[in-house]
Amino acid sequence: MAVMRVLEGEWAKIEDNGPPDMSSVLRHLIPAPAKAPLAPAPPTLDAPTMGPSTNRKRREKVPLRTNDQIKRDFEKLCLSEKYAKIFSERQKLPAFTAKEDFLKNLEAHKVVVVVGETGCGKTTQLPQFILDSLILSGRGSEVSILVTQPRRISAISVAARVSSERLDDGSVGYAIRGESKRGQETKLLFCTTGVVLRRLGSGDTLQDISHIVVDEVHERSVDGDFLLLELKELLKRHHRLKVVLMSATINHETFVNYFNGAPLLTIPGFTHPVADRYLEDLIPLIHYRPPLPRSNKKQAEDSQRALREELQTKGLDDSSIIAIHNIIHSDRIDFQLVAAVVHHIVTTPSNKRGGILIFLPGVQEIRQCIEATRSAVAGNPIDILPLHANLSNDEQRRVFLKTENWKIIAATNVAETSITIDDVIYVIDLGKVKETQYDPDTSLTRLVETWITRAAARQRRGRAGRTQPGICYKIYTQKQELEMTKFPVPEILRVPLENISLTVKAMREEEDVKLFLSRAINPPQIVAMERAWSVLEEIGAVDEGGRLTPLGRHISMLPVDLRLAKMLILGTIFQCLDPALTIAASLSSKPLFLNPLDKRDEAMKAKARFSVAGSDLLTDLRAYDDCARLHSQGKSHGEIRRFCEDNFISPTTMREITTLRLEFLSSLADIGFIPSSSVPSTPSLNTNSKNTNLLKAIILGGLWPRVARVHLPQSAIKFDKVQAGTVQRENTAREFKIYDLREGRVFLHPGSVLFGETAWKAPFLVYFHKYMSSKVFLRDATEVPLYALLLFGGTVSVNHIANSVTVGSRDNWVKLKAWPRIGILVNHLRRLLDAQLE
Ligand code: CDP
Ligand code: MG
Repeated sequence: MAVMRVLEGEWAKIEDNGPPDMSSVLRHLIPAPAKAPLAPAPPTLDAPTMGPSTNRKRREKVPLRTNDQIKRDFEKLCLSEKYAKIFSERQKLPAFTAKEDFLKNLEAHKVVVVVGETGCGKTTQLPQFILDSLILSGRGSEVSILVTQPRRISAISVAARVSSERLDDGSVGYAIRGESKRGQETKLLFCTTGVVLRRLGSGDTLQDISHIVVDEVHERSVDGDFLLLELKELLKRHHRLKVVLMSATINHETFVNYFNGAPLLTIPGFTHPVADRYLEDLIPLIHYRPPLPRSNKKQAEDSQRALREELQTKGLDDSSIIAIHNIIHSDRIDFQLVAAVVHHIVTTPSNKRGGILIFLPGVQEIRQCIEATRSAVAGNPIDILPLHANLSNDEQRRVFLKTENWKIIAATNVAETSITIDDVIYVIDLGKVKETQYDPDTSLTRLVETWITRAAARQRRGRAGRTQPGICYKIYTQKQELEMTKFPVPEILRVPLENISLTVKAMREEEDVKLFLSRAINPPQIVAMERAWSVLEEIGAVDEGGRLTPLGRHISMLPVDLRLAKMLILGTIFQCLDPALTIAASLSSKPLFLNPLDKRDEAMKAKARFSVAGSDLLTDLRAYDDCARLHSQGKSHGEIRRFCEDNFISPTTMREITTLRLEFLSSLADIGFIPSSSVPSTPSLNTNSKNTNLLKAIILGGLWPRVARVHLPQSAIKFDKVQAGTVQRENTAREFKIYDLREGRVFLHPGSVLFGETAWKAPFLVYFHKYMSSKVFLRDATEVPLYALLLFGGTVSVNHIANSVTVGSRDNWVKLKAWPRIGILVNHLRRLLDAQLE
């Protein structure tokens, strides 16, 4: 049923009779709640919960073995030849020297902080120490250890490693969002921080867990800091619980202080010596001359003089100095330079063949670097591999395989601390990282490339000396290194806080969120917390009284950006779930359409073939559906691949969207919002899926108030001026200008299907991304019908619409007179929506 048509019908009634009885409309629109609302959410659907957190699970879990049996089985395992062989290798890790000390401290204290150089065996060995000692002391059935990892990729790879060290005896498992591997005998579970947070968020007090090991705490992610905050509270109530914090040797005193002087254990590192080659050492070696940067001549001369002074003791010739100068004053990454360094390493006869690890800021750079390097060292025996968090498991595993060739790994900073590749001898460090920065005043988020910290530079360098002496090539000067900041700024201080604020509110309804967050290691700025709170109010997750709304509760339980969560909820209610799933998934993935620099025009044309009136998101949806249809029609791999190539569609993103769709759907079932029999999605949830206007409304409902107003050249007369009786025409520019509802002039990204649009149906558009580069750009835009704005746009929208209506049309005047009544209707409708969610 077309909701908009219904609303339009109701509209006619208002004109005649005042507000209609909307409950009758809603009865048609909204399916009855699927089942008892909001059962506590298990972390994943396909995966069983991580422990017996529900009664049903408790009944199923029959204790399989007694403490004695567990001990006997383990002793038998230890006697096996294979285990002993692996064990003797494990014993060489520095972590073993700290074993007794660690266990003694853990016996005596509730919280222990352990630091040690990367690769010393913290992640793989310490949890096993705990497990083994408890099994051997006859308490094997009582242990249940959670080890948190900041990334999915490390949770899986470490679990696989530890499991193989125990000859896959079933004691080790993993759990990440949407995927897990564990059985009843699992005692050591590697999981992402998010999995534990969601478990805590569903009201689980982790009574079945004996130990929580929080790994990589030095990374200071929002999730990590939040988990520490929660654990501090949990320790007050969960008396059996022990907590271990593991950190690389970066600012670890912070954690000792945060946990009131918890004992600190330092594992002495072993690293082989690593030689440093700064840019000034490197350039004379490789004789590389970069392209000239664009720069002011006078400034260039000054800075060259400064550089000459700085490097005078090094005895460099002038052309090397100018080369170094041009490299450090270029704002682009010079992939030819990186390739030249690789070439130098590979062709220097005295260099031992081994792994070369290149640290790059992002996935795009990894691709470019691989291309440049491949041609520079063609003819040599090399394997070149990417390493970043978005690879499939198989692709990730390839970096660990032994090879006779040179192994070149182009990586993001995932290779900095959490993933260890043993055969690396050479590190090439570009010194850059991509980091989100957020300005709470403008609520603009940007992904910016910045210099790494000195702590990170040290970590990266350390990767070269793992198994033998190594060399670290740095694409920056020694002076630049000294100018790097010492430690990273914790993420909680540089990202929007609405997600975490909502999670806190959902977990602790009685508590003041700002007060709670102010107990974090580094409390966020007040203005950032206030901004987050007003966002929650705007999207309707909390009410004016500061209480969590039913909608807010639903959103808080879905593991996705909260606006997209709202979109999924609305998509379910309005029975257009499939498109809502695809749109939410594609906004959580990389762009579906590829846009290679050298084929920009062709790519734009390909995208235009899928263009759906006035919406980037519906355009993506159509492309996804067309491609997915080929799958369901049983077309061959080759045919599908050709379709993707011809249309500049990324097969990786296609896969990602498909996976995420299923994950979101499962989550909706997990929280009891749709029946589990609806996975995969059923026709009854999709009766309105073809209604484009409704879809636009759902998009707006999710993304409000990310709305911009389009100033049409003809409509530059402000309504308020008309009311005051002073009709004036403002100077009308010929072009369409777009203004964010809050922050002034913005621009459509040229890649948008709306770019250059002249026939706007309604002068509003809704967007997902807004970011600043040369100007403030909007991406992923959708034209919004006025009705949608009324229904979902909060009370403010009424005024905005009133202000935008073109004067002169009689029709519009009639509508304007009805605004107050529309307000009543809209409020009524919203209350009914809320009641449905209760
Ligand atoms: O956590 P930490 O950085 O202290 O070290 P770890 O991850 O426990 O790794 C200890 C050792 O296990 C590393 O030095 C690697 O030699 C090895 N390891 C591996 O070969 N493959 C893995 N997936 C994980 C660890
Ligand atoms: Mg580790």
